[in-house]
Parts: sequence; C-alpha cells; structure tokens
Amino acid sequence: MPSSTLFATLVLAVANGAVWDCDKQTSCASCTGLSHLLDESNPQEDVLRGDRDNENQQAEVGLLGDDELGTQLIGCNWCLLDNSCHAYGSLLNKCGSDDYLKFPDVCPTDYPSETTPEFLGDWMGSLNDVIGNLTILDLSLPGTHDSLTYDLSTTISDGGIDDYPELSKILNLFSGAVDIIPGQIEDFIRQQARTQGLTISQQLDNGVRFVDFRQMKEGKGDWYSLHCLESNQLSLTYLKEIHDWLVAHPKEVVVAWMTKHGNGEAKGDDAYPGVSASDKQAYWAQVVNLFDDLIIDTDVSSPNSTSISDLIARSHRFIPYLGDYEEFASDDLKKHAMDGSLVDNQLGSSVETEAISYQSEKDAFSGAATTKKNDKASNRLFLRSMATSSPDCQIEATAYMKFDPFANTDDQIKACTSGCFDIPSLVGWCPSSLMDVAQMGAYYKQLTLEMAYNNFDQGWEFPNAIYLDSLDVDGTIRVGTTLPWGVEKEDDVEEHRTTRYPYADTLIGFNVKLACKMGQGDETRCKELEDMIDGRRDKYKMELWDDGKYGRSSNWPQLEI
Ligand SMILES: *[C@@H]1O[C@H](CO)[C@@H](O)[C@H](O)[C@H]1NC(C)=O
Ligand SMILES: *[C@@H]1O[C@H](CO)[C@@H](O)[C@H](O)[C@H]1NC(C)=O
Repeated sequence: MPSSTLFATLVLAVANGAVWDCDKQTSCASCTGLSHLLDESNPQEDVLRGDRDNENQQAEVGLLGDDELGTQLIGCNWCLLDNSCHAYGSLLNKCGSDDYLKFPDVCPTDYPSETTPEFLGDWMGSLNDVIGNLTILDLSLPGTHDSLTYDLSTTISDGGIDDYPELSKILNLFSGAVDIIPGQIEDFIRQQARTQGLTISQQLDNGVRFVDFRQMKEGKGDWYSLHCLESNQLSLTYLKEIHDWLVAHPKEVVVAWMTKHGNGEAKGDDAYPGVSASDKQAYWAQVVNLFDDLIIDTDVSSPNSTSISDLIARSHRFIPYLGDYEEFASDDLKKHAMDGSLVDNQLGSSVETEAISYQSEKDAFSGAATTKKNDKASNRLFLRSMATSSPDCQIEATAYMKFDPFANTDDQIKACTSGCFDIPSLVGWCPSSLMDVAQMGAYYKQLTLEMAYNNFDQGWEFPNAIYLDSLDVDGTIRVGTTLPWGVEKEDDVEEHRTTRYPYADTLIGFNVKLACKMGQGDETRCKELEDMIDGRRDKYKMELWDDGKYGRSSNWPQLEI
C-alpha cells in the first residue's frame, strides 16, 4: 500500500480511537489521559506532535481533505453512565458529548460511597460530655484550604486570575495555540487551582469543621465560589449543602471563613473588585436567610465565651467570619457574623522552602498555647495555614512541557525540581498539578502535626483551626503519590500510592487531651476517649519512606518526632 494511504488509514484509526485502545482502559483517569484534538487548520501538528520533524509525514497528513478531518476530539472519553472508556464518536458511547468526561481531573474521586465514616461526622456531639464546656476559641478545628475547589468549572472567574500573575501569563501565552483541545488551557489552570477531592459534605463527614469558603460576584450577576476559575454551582448551593449537613448533624458547629481570596483584612474594592456594597448586602441577606435557624447571633453568643453546649442549645451552630464585614453586613445583620479581620491567619508554610516551613510550623505549634491565649482575650481566632499554592516555577515548567512541543524537557524538569523546591529527593519529576504539590507537601506536614500531638505534655498545642489541602477519606490527608481522581505515577513506591495520615483524628485527639487537662470529664472517660482516638490514629500510623523521584525522604528535613 502506498505510504500516503497507509498514513491516511493511521490517521483515521487514530480518529476512531483504535490506536489508543480506548476499550482496554479500565479507569477514568487512564481513559481521559488519552484525549487529543485533531484540528483541520493544522492537522499535522496535532496528529504528529511527537513526529513534528518528519516532513514526509507532515506532507502526507496534508493529503487528507478537510471533510475527512474537521476539528474534532479524538482519543478516549469516559462515560459515567456505563463506567466505560469509549473512542470519540463510538456508537457504543451511551453518553452525549456534554456528559462524557474529557479530563482526568474531573474523574470521580475514589470515595467509599456506601459508608459514611463512623465518629468523624458527629465528633463534637460524641465528645460533648468532655468538650461541651469549652468555647470554639479553646478548640482546634480540622479545616480545609480552598474547600470548594473540588467543583471548579473551566470558566475564568472575574478577578479570579488577577491574584495569580503566572497563570494569567500562561493563559495569554498558550490560549491562542491552535492544537489545544477546547478547554484544555482552562483545565490546566484548574489543575493548578484544585486543592480538594472530597465534596463539602464529605469533608464535614470526615471531621472538618473549618471551611475556607471563597466567593465572588461574577459579571453575569450571580455569586460563585472560585479559585482562579469559578465554581460549577452558585455559592448559595454549597452553603445550602452546609446548612443541610448541619440539620442532619444536630450537635456539630461549623466555622466558615468567607472571603474572596483568603484575606480577612481586605476591604471594599480591594477585596471584591467592582462589586458594590448593595450587592454585597443583598447577598449577605440571602445567606442569613438561608441559615436563619442555625446562624450565630453575636448579641447573645461569642466565640470566646459561649460554650459549645450553649451554641448547640441556642442553635448558633454556623459561625461565619466574614471578610469585608463592614460592607457586607448591613446594620441589622451585623450580629450574624464575626468580622473576618478577627481571624489571626498565620501563613508560613510553603513546600518550595519546606525546610523553613518545617521550622515555622514547629515554632507555631510550640508557641500555640500563648498565641491562642492572647488571641482569645481579643476574641480572635488563631488560624494556621498548612496549605500550599503552586509555585510559579512549577506552573511555568509544567505549562511548557505540556503545551510547547519544542520545550527542552531536561531543562524544564530541572527548573521545576532543584530550581524550584528545596526537597533533595525531588528528582526527575515535575509535579504537574497543585494537588501533586499538595500531596508532596502533606508528606512533610505530617511530621509537624505528629510532633505537636506527641509533645502535648511539653506544652505544644494546635491553633484554633488549621487549613490544608488534599483531605482524604477517614479524615486523613493523602501523603502518597496517586491523585484522588486516580491518576497514578510511574516508578513510584507502589505500596505508598495512597498512604494517608490521620489529620482529623490528631486534632480531635488533641481537643480531648486539652479538655481533660482543663479539668473536664472524669479520669475514666478521658482515658477511654484517648484510647479510642489513639486506636483510630493507629489505623493510619505516620509512614515515612524514600522515593528518590517523587520528593519523599525519610530523613529530611530532620527527624525528631
Ligand atoms: C472576649 O473578647 C472580648 C473582646 O471582644 C474581650 O473583651 C473579652 O474579655 C474576651 N473574653 C474572654 C473570656 O477572653
Ligand atoms: C460543665 O459545666 C457544668 C456547670 O459548671 C458542670 O456541671 C459540668 O460538670 C461541666 N462538664 C464537664 C464535662 O466538666
């Protein structure tokens, strides 16, 4: 057969997904990892990405007429209706083109659907006889960072990208490229913005009681959540979910930090560019109305003096800390929120400089008792970030490797490893998403969390709330290498792909120890609860291992747990 015909056959086979073996892909992540765009305007660039230098083949592809090519998505798509992988255009695909999944990061998170975790969904209620006399500003709440980013769309949020100059740059640089799948650059941004795999209800079920609730009024008129991209649902939809969860869990209290960009101090146009005070007040009235039967009334209750038991008895179980408080809360609704500037938000953790983060976390936890005491006296909530954001050097290297076929991979990997992170065992792998960065960070966060817990008798404490990324089932954080939506790595340490650390139980166990030290609960009950929680923590004992590619080291930065 003449080579041009051979090649045309190959192209059509690719278009039909045959080359990709779609029907052999058994997971959503492996399936969606194989989608690609064939573009009539420049077909050779697409089909022959790897063979760009082969002029013969480029010429041969050029022989195909427009009617044979067209702009179309080729490769594989995952259909949730039959949980199967299909070639684009396959007659077996039960999903319409709006339903099938195109990108790995929209694959469902691995979550045991039938079972809600025991204990964690009602931990405050279960421990009420011991912690009930304490206030919110005595406790340490497990929290999540950018809590709603499990549900980001591919629409850039108004003002959402302004805070991320590197992402704006990437967007401008590559969005005009002809051979990018529609939405692919936005999906790339989503991968640099997504910090959570579990839904908000699942997070609450898994022990989270501090929610980092981001919100913004979009130009089209409604309020959405955001992190660079806007959320799929209206922000009120997520708030309704929190409301309904609270109704179903009658002895739990949830603190929500409501800002556009995690900055409780920002005000007015700095906080919400282009959003008027009347728009903010109209939104806030809707929120108060939604939580009507559950929201705090600060004329009666206060975080630093009202006991958990009284918050429950008064049905003041939703406590918003509202950024840009003066503009949002009209006079008569001020009492239904705490001023967001009362959040003492201490940053300091960045996985780029993990050795410094490690020290700064040790300092924060060894000094937390004093910080909390001072903050409580002025009704401030001591919040500590253990979250990460995508460093520019990692975003840039990832983007070039993904979108620029002429990029020198070795140089980019170097810029993304030794040029970007201080972790010595990060070699030969550029974390391609924020969640990859976060899970690598979580591996190191477990060191200081464990140290603080073990040093309770030496006076170490946790802040009033911590917020971090990569929450996993059973109140854990994932420290292994596989992403929550199933994307696996090659050449990693196989037994540690989904290794997890018991984040929520560690903070809850600390709360029990603290309450008991403050004289709450009798000795038998305290011992019983401490044993119960230590038993739960033992299920996910901290594990350290050496992986000389994916940045996990068993003896770095230093070990003194
Ligand atoms: C709570 O905070 C207020 C300041 O808003 C302060 O006057 C009061 O003393 C604090 N109460 C406690 C118990 O620390
Ligand atoms: C909480 O306080 C009440 C009233 O002061 C007391 O009767 C009760 O024993 C306390 N609860 C605990 C767990 O110490």
